[in-house]
Amino acid sequence: MVIVLVFLVVLGQEVYGNKEQCENHAVKAKLFDAICSEIKQTRTKSEETGTTYTRWGRTKCSGDKTEIVYSGFVGGASHNDSGSQVNMLCVPTQPQYAINNKKADNHPWLGGTIYSMHQMDTPNTALDQSKYTLYGIPCTVCRARDKTSVIMIPGRKECTSDWEKEYNGYLFGGNPKFKSGSEYVCIDEVPERRKKATSWSEKPILKPVHSKCNEVMPCPPFIDGRVLTCVVCSK
Ligand SMILES: *[C@@H]1O[C@H](CO)[C@@H](O)[C@H](O)[C@H]1NC(C)=O
Repeated sequence: MVIVLVFLVVLGQEVYGNKEQCENHAVKAKLFDAICSEIKQTRTKSEETGTTYTRWGRTKCSGDKTEIVYSGFVGGASHNDSGSQVNMLCVPTQPQYAINNKKADNHPWLGGTIYSMHQMDTPNTALDQSKYTLYGIPCTVCRARDKTSVIMIPGRKECTSDWEKEYNGYLFGGNPKFKSGSEYVCIDEVPERRKKATSWSEKPILKPVHSKCNEVMPCPPFIDGRVLTCVVCSK
């Protein structure tokens, strides 16, 4: 910075010469602009850290040092097609199409994902059947500015020491009875919802995941059939 300032002052004198010109507003403004743009670049460098993650189920990020990259809706492929994609995407609500000359069919597709809280029987919570089942799911891609790592810990509500909580919630995935595969995602503990669908047809579906005592699962402390928590932590 100091070197740059000295350079600019020297440059200022070389180019603009004498004292009278230094009283000139236009000359001052130019120098000021040059200094400001240099300061901006310096700040960009000091902000080179940062990491991103998706906050599933919410339209905002939490925390002062976390900024929204974009928010949108959870997109995926049908739960009822055996060859469909398994991962969920966070899709912005405003698409930009490019080559779009005809309607494609018999191709992979991306559509809106819905919640299913069937048999959860926990009204007024994140797992409220009537509040969420069949509703579309929002999501937000967040950037934690001064962090470099981010992890999702299944089965926990709190981060391990030295890690900071970004959000916590419940582990979701597709029903194993569905034809499609699916992945685990961490839905926020206070989920928001988008518009409601009228049927299950052609929808990716996310349901709460429970622990299964399958001989090698450590039960206890895990309990068969309990909905699992999750937490997203950064450092
Ligand atoms: C699933 O697909 C089968 C055909 O493969 C169809 O008969 C059925 O209605 C579909 N179910 C849903 C919920 O979309």
